[in-house]
Amino acid sequence: MTETITNTIKKEKEVKWWQTAVIYQIYPRSFQDSDGDGVGDLRGIINRIDYLKLLGITAIWLSPVYKSPNDDNGYDISDYQDIMDEFGTMADMDELLAKANEAGIKIIMDLVVNHTSDEHKWFIEAKKGKDNEYRDYYIWRDPVNGDVPNGLGSIFSGSAWELDEASGQYFLHLFSKRQPDLNWENPKVRKEVNDMMNFWLDKGVGGFRMDVIDLIGKIPDQEITGNGPKLHEYLQEMNQQTFGKHDVMTVGETWGATPEIAKLYSDPARNELSMVFQFEHISLDQQEGKDKWDLKPLSVAELKDVLVKWQVSLGNEGWNSLFWNNHDLPRIVSRWGNDKEYHDQSAKMFAILLHMMKGTPYIYQGEEIGMTNCPVSSIDEVEDIEAVNMYHDRLAKGYPVEDIITSINAKGRDNARTPMQWDDSAHGGFTTGTPWLHVNQNHKTINVQENLDNPNSIFYTYQRLIQIRQDNPIVVWGDFELIENTHEDVFAYYRLYEGEKWLVAANMSEQEHGFSVNEEVSELIMSNYNRTEIDVKQLAFKPYEAFAVKVKA
Ligand code: NOJ
Repeated sequence: MTETITNTIKKEKEVKWWQTAVIYQIYPRSFQDSDGDGVGDLRGIINRIDYLKLLGITAIWLSPVYKSPNDDNGYDISDYQDIMDEFGTMADMDELLAKANEAGIKIIMDLVVNHTSDEHKWFIEAKKGKDNEYRDYYIWRDPVNGDVPNGLGSIFSGSAWELDEASGQYFLHLFSKRQPDLNWENPKVRKEVNDMMNFWLDKGVGGFRMDVIDLIGKIPDQEITGNGPKLHEYLQEMNQQTFGKHDVMTVGETWGATPEIAKLYSDPARNELSMVFQFEHISLDQQEGKDKWDLKPLSVAELKDVLVKWQVSLGNEGWNSLFWNNHDLPRIVSRWGNDKEYHDQSAKMFAILLHMMKGTPYIYQGEEIGMTNCPVSSIDEVEDIEAVNMYHDRLAKGYPVEDIITSINAKGRDNARTPMQWDDSAHGGFTTGTPWLHVNQNHKTINVQENLDNPNSIFYTYQRLIQIRQDNPIVVWGDFELIENTHEDVFAYYRLYEGEKWLVAANMSEQEHGFSVNEEVSELIMSNYNRTEIDVKQLAFKPYEAFAVKVKA
C-alpha cells in the first residue's frame, strides 16, 4: 500500500502535461472560413473552440499562420512575427490564444525553420549580392562545370539547387525553389530563430511542432541532409536559449527516425525535444527504396511489427507520438480502412487501436468525423505543389498519366486538405464564398452536424476515447505487450499498470476472423460494434471490429 502511494506520488511529480494530452491538428486554411473569402481563418478557429472543447482535446497543433506567399500553403514563411493576411491579424491570434487557454487548450505553433519563403526579407537581402550581410543566412554554392553543384534532389522534384542569375551562384532548396534553406551553421541565423521563438513563448504558446527539424544539420557538400552531425548540438542550444525555460512541449518532424534516433531527440537527460513524429508505419505502403508515389499494398503484419517496436523500445528515454493522419498524409479510413461499406467501423477501429496505445495521440481535423480521401480525375483539380511538381516530372519521364493520377489519389496531400465538413449545406458549412479547394461531395452525409446528432457516431467514439485516457492512468502509463499468435490481420495487445490489465484487439480486415485468449473479462470499455458483452475466449471478429476490455489480472 505504502509502496503504491509512493509510486503514485513519484509518478505524479514526473508527469508532464503533454504526456496526458490529446492534440488536435488544425490546418487553418481548410478549417473554418469566417469572412466568406473561401479561405479558413483565425476567427473561424475561435468560433469553433466550443466544438473542440466538446471533443475533449487539450491542445491544438496549429499549422503555420504566419505571413506567407503560400507557395506551400504557409510552410514558406515571409515573416515569422506576423500573421497571414487571409488568416487575420496578430490581435486575432492573441484572442485565439486567450480563448483557447480559457478553455484549457494549449496552442502549439508550427516552427518552420529549415527554410523561409523567398519573400522573407533575409532572402530578399541575401539575393542582393555576395557581400550582403544576409548572404550567409542561406546556402550558396558556385556552379560545378557550368552546372548544379551536386546531385542533391528536392523533395518536391527536380534539383535542390536553383541558379541565381544575378550572382551566378546556386542556392539550396530542399523543398520548392521558393523555399530557400537557411544556413544553420551561421550563429546569426540560430540567434534570429531563438529570438523569434521567444517572441511566441512570451505570448504564452504551449510549444512547437518542428517542421523537418532533422534537416537543419545538413552538410550539402557531402549530400548529407537528414541527421547531420551538428543537429543535436543545435537543438540543445535551442532548448537552452528558448523553450527549455518554459513548461511547453516540442515535437520534431523526423522522417528517417528509428527508435535509436528518436531517443537522441527525446531522452529527457539530453534536454532536446519532448517527442518526435516517426513515419515508419506510415511509409509501409510504398515500394522499398522508392518514393511515396510508388505504391504497394500494406502488410498488416509489417504494420504490427513497426508499431510494436515503437511501443516497446523507447522506454524511459523517449515518448511516442501516435498518429495516422496529418496534412501531408491521405485519410486513414480511405488508405487502410474501407471508406464505403465499412466506413464507420473502420474509422472507429483505427481510433480505438491508436488511442489505447502508449504515447500522445494526435487527431487531424476531420478524422474525428471520418473524413475521407477526395479523388480527382485530372491534374487541373490539384492544388498541392508537391503533387503538381511530381506530375510534371513523371510525365516528362514517360509515366502514363493514369498511373500518376492513381498515385495522387492514393497519396496526394490535397486528400487531407479539402475543407472541413461542418454540415450538409453548400460547401459543407466551411465558407459562404468559393472554397480555395473543392469540398468533398460526401459532405452531404459525412459532416460534424450529422456526427453530433448521432449518438453512435465516430465523433463520440473519439470523445469517449479521450475521456477514457483522462480517467485511466493505465492508458497513459501502462506497459504495452503484444498478444502473439493471433490471425495475421488481428492486432491485439495488453496494457498493464499497477495490477490492472486491459486487452485491446482489432481486426484490421474485412474478413471475419476467430479470436481467442484465455482471459476473464471484468469490464467492457469500448466496442465499435456496440457489443454489450465480449467473450474473449471465443470471439468471431466482424469486419474491422475493435474493442477494449478490462480483464482479471
Ligand atoms: C513538412 C510539412 O509538414 C509539409 O507540409 C511541408 O511542405 C514541408 N515540411 C516543407 O515545409
